[in-house]
Amino acid sequence: MLLHGLRGLVLTAALLIPAASGASEGNPGPVAGHGAPVEPGTNTARRLEIPGLENVHDLGHGLLCGGQPRGGSGFDSLAAQGVRTVVSVDGMEPDLERARRHGMRYVHVPIGYDGVGTNALRRLAKAVSTLPGPFYIHCHQGRHRGPAAAAAVARTLHRWTAAQASAWLTVAGTDPRYVGLHRDATNAPPIPPDEIALIADPLPETTPVEPLVRAMVAVDHELEALRSQRGDAFGPASEAVAAAAMATRLSELFRESARLDGSGPAGGELRSGLTEAADQASHLADQLAGVRDPAAAENTFRKFTEGCARCHRRHRDPPANP
Ligand code: HEC
Repeated sequence: MLLHGLRGLVLTAALLIPAASGASEGNPGPVAGHGAPVEPGTNTARRLEIPGLENVHDLGHGLLCGGQPRGGSGFDSLAAQGVRTVVSVDGMEPDLERARRHGMRYVHVPIGYDGVGTNALRRLAKAVSTLPGPFYIHCHQGRHRGPAAAAAVARTLHRWTAAQASAWLTVAGTDPRYVGLHRDATNAPPIPPDEIALIADPLPETTPVEPLVRAMVAVDHELEALRSQRGDAFGPASEAVAAAAMATRLSELFRESARLDGSGPAGGELRSGLTEAADQASHLADQLAGVRDPAAAENTFRKFTEGCARCHRRHRDPPANP
């Protein structure tokens, strides 16, 4: 991750980040949690270390932002922070049961890596204006989509400046390559309360996502399992059998994805990329459990994981039309 080295440094405290030149001139300035004006371009987010949650920040205004709550402890932590409404912006199906048991309601507004988009922003603004706070806005890791959505909400409802939104994305570690997320987080327009009151969109607790998104969420999950099974390198034969089963599952997921209806001009190319990933994963399974060639398996694993980012840069991350 490009900003990784910076993070330890910038996360330590509320830090002054110089405003982008000219971006905030003449602006009345954002309002911090208690209504005190702050310098434009100041990061007002505060990092919180909380069990079961990663990359959590308190943005003020009753907005917390971070990664997906992990198991019961994640929701316990949210309850301890007084959170009443959890907003997910990623493709994974929210854990409604756990949230309800902890007295929280979910709102699911999935967005892509190509930007927040006006439809999603409208729903997010309505959720944060009409449902009980405090709010926890999350994506998978709390690095990219969640922070962008939270910044857009803060721009729309809490008079954050573009410079303040941008400073926050730097602190959150949002990769600059996600140009659409940066664009929408900094450009989100303020929406006055009387217009918010007119927003008729429903606020579902869970929203069906496209089959490809669902498959990718499963791929991500399985790859995480394979990585932790692997550790630093693929181990002895006994462990390689478990890793091979995971690689086979990955291969099946990509094979299924490649069979989905590919629409648009990218369809054919996307499909062949998915087929290539399926082939690599089944090759990996072979090298792990069948012919047993650990060195070759490492090489295939590396190529396979590099393939994720390569395809995403081409087919997932470029900004959508505004
Ligand atoms: C050949 C192309 C391709 C390959 C290879 C690929 N992906 Fe994807 N992935 C996509 C596309 C396209 C999307 C966006 C789908 C959408 O939003 O409609 C996506 C979305 C995702 C998402 C976001 C899901 C969400 O919550 O919205 C994750 C996570 C993901 N991919 C993980 C992976 C991982 C991990 C790998 C490698 C093991 C991988 N992908 C390989 C094309 C690919």
